[in-house]
Amino acid sequence: MTVAVITGAASGIGAGLARHAASLGMKLVLADWDQDALKEVADSLSTEAIAVPTDVRDEAAVQSLADTAFERFGEIDLLFNNAGVLSSGLSWEIDAETWQRSVDINIGGVVNVMRAFVPRLNAADRPARIINTSSVGGFLTSPFMAPYSATKFAIVAVTEAMAGELAAMNSKLQVSLLAPGPVKSGIMDEKAPTETQQFMTTLRDMNDEHGMTPDGFAPLVFEGIERGDYWIVPQPEILDSALQERTEMILNRKPPVSFDFTSGDG
Ligand SMILES: NC(=O)c1ccc[n+]([C@@H]2O[C@H](COP(=O)([O-])OP(=O)(O)OC[C@H]3O[C@@H](n4cnc5c(N)ncnc54)[C@H](O)[C@@H]3O)[C@@H](O)[C@H]2O)c1
Repeated sequence: MTVAVITGAASGIGAGLARHAASLGMKLVLADWDQDALKEVADSLSTEAIAVPTDVRDEAAVQSLADTAFERFGEIDLLFNNAGVLSSGLSWEIDAETWQRSVDINIGGVVNVMRAFVPRLNAADRPARIINTSSVGGFLTSPFMAPYSATKFAIVAVTEAMAGELAAMNSKLQVSLLAPGPVKSGIMDEKAPTETQQFMTTLRDMNDEHGMTPDGFAPLVFEGIERGDYWIVPQPEILDSALQERTEMILNRKPPVSFDFTSGDG
């Protein structure tokens, strides 16, 4: 594996993945809409890394990101479809603009990247892997962050569809679904409305206490890639028992209970 493209590379998990990939000697194409932070990450790496300021909501910008990546390096081995945002609030109080922003970034952005890169990766007819980032929140619902839950559930669905489609066409391109648990990052920095400030403070405290560092997290992601895993769940203790409980709840037709992953035990 020699070339990786990473969206949302200016901060948190994406920056951790960039640093780890650089430590493995990979060449990097880093994308983010935060130009200054992106440049800082790219400049800090000891490998060939180009920073391509990109808003993943912008289809033309993402196509141009793909143009740049293929023109510069010819082939791509890993594509981390990672940029995302988290908004909190009461589901019926969150304004239309905030809902739309979550949908446009967390789903639209991921799909824009797939649409720009997958046809070219298929045409290259060589092994490569795209890693779509969902979350443990893509399997477990939570109150007060409906746009996040809804969009991360969507990525679980989209990625499974894509896996089936690639398999049906015998593509050499493979896909993985990355579901992080708590990782220290900037994802919770968005200002919370009054009703959810306490919830977000608890969530942030939990993340500070139990969250992995991006640099501790990234090698676990690469281990999953090395194994060829579809499901990359570096913190299974956050997901597995809660997912089992949720699945049994559905199978037993029990009403929803809130899977409160602010408790830190899933
Ligand atoms: N940190 C966690 O605990 C956690 C848990 C589960 C899933 N995730 C997921 O991991 C991914 C990375 O998040 P993170 O925690 O590192 O957060 P982060 O905020 O530190 O990093 C996200 C990056 O994405 C960028 N970004 C946001 N919108 C963008 C856009 N429209 N175009 C381009 N770049 C954009 C941001 O500028 C930022 O640099 C997200 O998809 C997030 O949902 C994070």
